Amino acid sequence: MTNPNFARLRLDAETQSYQAFIGAFRKLWAGPLYRSMRDEAAALPNQEPENFAAFEAELHQQPKHQFFGWLEHNLQKMKYEGRWGVVPAANAQRDEIEALMAAPVGGNRLTEDPALQLPDYYEENDFHNHPGGLREDPLAAVIYRESASAAGGVVGKADLHARYVQALLGDAKVKRVIDIGCGFGRSTFCFTNALPEATAVGVDLSGSCVRLSAHLAEGRPDENRVHFVQADGVKVPFADASFDLFTSTMLLHEMPADAIRELIAEAFRVLEPGGISSHLDFLPPPINFLRALYLGHSDRNAEPFMRELAEMDMVAEHEKVGFTDVEIIPFAEDDQGLGEKWRLPWTIIRARKPAEAK
Ligand SMILES: C[S@@+](CC[C@H](N)C(=O)[O-])C[C@H]1O[C@@H](n2cnc3c(N)ncnc32)[C@H](O)[C@@H]1O
Repeated sequence: MTNPNFARLRLDAETQSYQAFIGAFRKLWAGPLYRSMRDEAAALPNQEPENFAAFEAELHQQPKHQFFGWLEHNLQKMKYEGRWGVVPAANAQRDEIEALMAAPVGGNRLTEDPALQLPDYYEENDFHNHPGGLREDPLAAVIYRESASAAGGVVGKADLHARYVQALLGDAKVKRVIDIGCGFGRSTFCFTNALPEATAVGVDLSGSCVRLSAHLAEGRPDENRVHFVQADGVKVPFADASFDLFTSTMLLHEMPADAIRELIAEAFRVLEPGGISSHLDFLPPPINFLRALYLGHSDRNAEPFMRELAEMDMVAEHEKVGFTDVEIIPFAEDDQGLGEKWRLPWTIIRARKPAEAK
């Protein structure tokens, strides 16, 4: 039976209140505090993109900006750690949830590779300040999923992935999807929801993530059309031309530039001629204030490779391996209007493998 609450953590009343408090504080941080800081920053000199370094240095001296940064870093850490964090809540239920996670997965939905060599960048970084990252703890994906909804969520609204899929697909007839860095499957399931004829493979380095995703598939109408595979997205265990859509959401900014280049080449290899490559990620606009906040987020939120992604020419990188029709498309996180709230600069990077390509 479909059970979207599979391995969900129970949060006691104190933890729920504390997480709600963090969520309310995040609203103040992303709304009124952001707007007040933005208005002050508009009066600073060096607004021209070529004077970015001087603008950023000046912004860093502003007390409101320092408070904004302090809150960004600490509210995120408070969500995970401390007496009422998500991690201690998981530890309190560890035996029970580990047993659920370890239960056999039915069908042909899960391929694990416990011997998979993890890339150094993945071993060395606790992305978005998730303690221990998604690497070893069998409950890592359970904690990640909980933190994505606790305290007002990590990033994005509940329908973000579905809107991405809609924007991306249009009337494209896609049959075989590969979703790299699938996490706990929220992106992957959006494709099988939108494409009743299609199959989708979710790939992730994290054994915990692919296992949780495969459990979550159980009993869903698409349970036999999804397959979760533990692998590195830059070297997936599939033959050339196996897919007609290669996609990721919120993956690129967690990879160093060289790994992104390998990923683009791998996309070209596993796509059939005419296939689409599409990533939903973040590219900052050439507005000094927004760029400074984005790069600051990279430092404060343990997302060190956002800087490398911001420097890359994604059109040229795609064209270099043979992709055509490369488009960089800003994507609205919600309908509340850019600029009135702090938002990450969501962007779709889409390209096509030419029909005549080998
Ligand atoms: C921020 S999460 C996004 C998860 C999911 N796509 C979503 O939108 O909810 C990034 C995911 O990418 C995975 N990841 C990072 N590097 C990867 C790689 N080289 N190959 C496959 N997965 C990777 C991480 O383990 C993590 O689950």
